[in-house]
Amino acid sequence: MQFPERFSNLPDYAFPRLRALLDPHPAGGDVIHMSIGEPKHPMPPFVAEVMAANLNGFGIYPANDGTAALLTAIQGWLGRRYGVEVGTDRLMVLNGTREGLFNAALALSPERKNGGQPVFLMPNPFYQVYAAAALAVGAEPVYVPATADTGFLPDYAALPAEVLDRVTVAYLCSPANPQGAIASRDRLADMIRLAEKHDFRLFVDECYSEIWRDAPPPGALEVAAEIGADPERVFVFHSLSKRSNLPGLRSGFVAGGAEGIRHIRKLRAFSGAPVPAPLQAVATAAWNDEAHVQASLALYHQKFDLAQRIFGNVPGYRTPEGGFFLWLPVPDGEAAALKLWTDTGVRVVPGAYFSRDVGGVNPGHGYIRVALVASHDDTRRGLERIHDCLYRKD
Ligand SMILES: Cc1ncc(COP(=O)(O)O)c(C=O)c1O
Repeated sequence: MQFPERFSNLPDYAFPRLRALLDPHPAGGDVIHMSIGEPKHPMPPFVAEVMAANLNGFGIYPANDGTAALLTAIQGWLGRRYGVEVGTDRLMVLNGTREGLFNAALALSPERKNGGQPVFLMPNPFYQVYAAAALAVGAEPVYVPATADTGFLPDYAALPAEVLDRVTVAYLCSPANPQGAIASRDRLADMIRLAEKHDFRLFVDECYSEIWRDAPPPGALEVAAEIGADPERVFVFHSLSKRSNLPGLRSGFVAGGAEGIRHIRKLRAFSGAPVPAPLQAVATAAWNDEAHVQASLALYHQKFDLAQRIFGNVPGYRTPEGGFFLWLPVPDGEAAALKLWTDTGVRVVPGAYFSRDVGGVNPGHGYIRVALVASHDDTRRGLERIHDCLYRKD
């Protein structure tokens, strides 16, 4: 039996690789999980009540594009959060952003661009679904360094015009996973202008938009509106997984141009898995409420203050501007993750599991990614162990 060639170069996903690295060895202490970006703060208090009130919804096929109530709630949230007015015809409900980031590429990327194979741009390191989406549509993934030298965001403008002219989709993640960098208004405007110049779409993954240190990150939709860009240029992806601590709800949305959204809706009517009606009801309540988001943000502020106190003197340490990961410099990420596990029982991910080798250089090699999702107490214990194991100089 044959398998598709196009996925043959996909590495195993980060977590099976982590298990293969660590699990043959015993933990060196009680285990503290700082590897998976699974939020652990309390979920909103109203989830059970809304689910219970909408249980009958499991008896009907769900609304493919989203219920009117959910689309209106999302529209209201975009208005309050970014000051943008987006018609509900520009919104599509998703089972979380991961599948949306993948499926939007299927719906929107043409087969050829300027006579050549399409190119998908993505930061390196990056959230791995972007590469799978490129391969699925027969596009060439181009991994663009997002390192300390580039402010931990990709500098797409530095690519040759020949490459940029073949781009159909450029992914951007802000706040970025894993580096925590936030694209400023100017940077977003520059990227949108670059997309206009070379006629491609920007897919902006903003699923960490509500987790930040000093100020709420600007959104690509508001910047697109400010500079009068064509709404078809920019598609933003949002999720309740991080904002509302509901990763198991599988609920998010994409907002973009009405025509693009029409294409996404059409394809999903054939092949998508619509979000069950009771879950859409929970999502509606979640987008309509900010109190639980603020409570969760306050907990993240405390954790990042803690991290600053523990790592402030470590050379190269920076407090990430957004998201809930530390991206810590080490000589070798795999060796550091293994040492941490065998000496202390703390589980973190080697940075290279989120990045690709390009020209013999892997920009994630000298990092570990540490998720600050555990309880405050476990986070403190975990961070102290990481500090003492990898950075202490006696
Ligand atoms: C950068 C980034 N994008 C998208 C996702 C997908 O999240 P979800 O599908 O739960 O919305 C994640 C989840 O970890 C992520 O880190």
